[in-house]
Amino acid sequence: MTFATSSRPVTAFDVQRVRRDFPILSQTIHGKPLVYLDNAATTQKPQAVIDAMVRSYAEDNANIHRGVHLLSVRATQAYELAREKVQHFLNAAESREIIFVRGTTEAINLVAATYGRSHVAKGDEVLITEMEHHSNIVPWQLLCEEKGAELKVLPVTDEGELRMDLFEGLLTDRTRMVAVNHVSNSLGTINPIKAIVEKAHKRGIPVLVDGAQAVAHIPVDVQALDADFYAMSGHKLFGPTGVGVLYGKLPLLEAMPPYQGGGDMISAVTFRKTTYNAVPNKFEAGTPNIAGAVGLGAAIDYLRTLDSASVHAYEDDLLAYGTKALTSLPGIRLIGTAAQKTSVLSFVMENVHPHDIGTILDQEGVAIRTGHHCTQPLMERMRVPATARASLALYNTKEEIDALVRALDKVRDIFD
Ligand SMILES: Cc1ncc(COP(=O)(O)O)c(C=O)c1O
Repeated sequence: MTFATSSRPVTAFDVQRVRRDFPILSQTIHGKPLVYLDNAATTQKPQAVIDAMVRSYAEDNANIHRGVHLLSVRATQAYELAREKVQHFLNAAESREIIFVRGTTEAINLVAATYGRSHVAKGDEVLITEMEHHSNIVPWQLLCEEKGAELKVLPVTDEGELRMDLFEGLLTDRTRMVAVNHVSNSLGTINPIKAIVEKAHKRGIPVLVDGAQAVAHIPVDVQALDADFYAMSGHKLFGPTGVGVLYGKLPLLEAMPPYQGGGDMISAVTFRKTTYNAVPNKFEAGTPNIAGAVGLGAAIDYLRTLDSASVHAYEDDLLAYGTKALTSLPGIRLIGTAAQKTSVLSFVMENVHPHDIGTILDQEGVAIRTGHHCTQPLMERMRVPATARASLALYNTKEEIDALVRALDKVRDIFD
């Protein structure tokens, strides 16, 4: 089955050439060609990233920052170069504003534990939204419990859009932080970050943006957004697991207390008192994921070889194709139909549990995710226990959407 496509031009993007860069995509699963549609969970890695990490271990492996020997100098240079690549990717003003962490989860925990602990007091408020991933809920909840503060929640509509009409009314003189995702992992909604930041800043409230699902799909410019903090994970951007980034505006980072104590984050230690290193090292205690940072830098380099406007147009076209395909199927209801959307097709099927859908699709070689996607409050709001989620990346094709549709037809046949 094929479907009419949207009218946006997709000429300059050669998806077959891109697919050849990702070795994992050419394998078969249960004897069928792999159709990988679980990109919101993690993306696959191009050979260039794998090679960069192998090279890092094979040729440059040494600990960074502390060594005078050549290998250490080379490893340090590679690590700091990766920081600059991330800086340019996010359009941060300075590389010092880029802190390497384990991923989005750690980035948010870092802000809650440092900025949060030093700015939130009893009776204060933190505002999040109903569509947050657990990693942008629980760190704030822990903080609010510790401080006797209140966690407030901006609701979403039935379509999965933020109730922006209620936003300003939820900001008060006690609001100390707004934390919101750029793109919802369960719905694909692209949130109006610029408007959120503008409104929060009018009242002097900083905004943390969870960019985990945004960076691989929409252009991100932290200066244009005027975000105070921006969190992302390498593995959702075709890079390795175990490395991610916290961007923070320099004056905020400089004023924040350290996160973890240990090597590299200090300036001088005595048993009486320790003074701390400058940003970003103040927040990078211990030996970091050096090869991971190098791999993330290689992922950014890889993306720079592609024309980003063509990639985004291609992905929009693919999402439109997938949306049309799924909504044409009997008994399927999309969860998340926001006007501004990217890359996620979350759905439920009449009388079939999402886990059964996922299991049957796997037999057809189609990898999707089923469950609550770490957004249990959002599932409750959308009045579903779970969804099946097909999430797209730049290497997916219309033929793969067709394979998803054929596999869903099989699910229907089995349950009819
Ligand atoms: C919107 C969102 N925020 C945060 C996270 C957490 O990312 P990580 O597990 O890489 O820390 C995810 C992961 O799925 C996500 O989708």
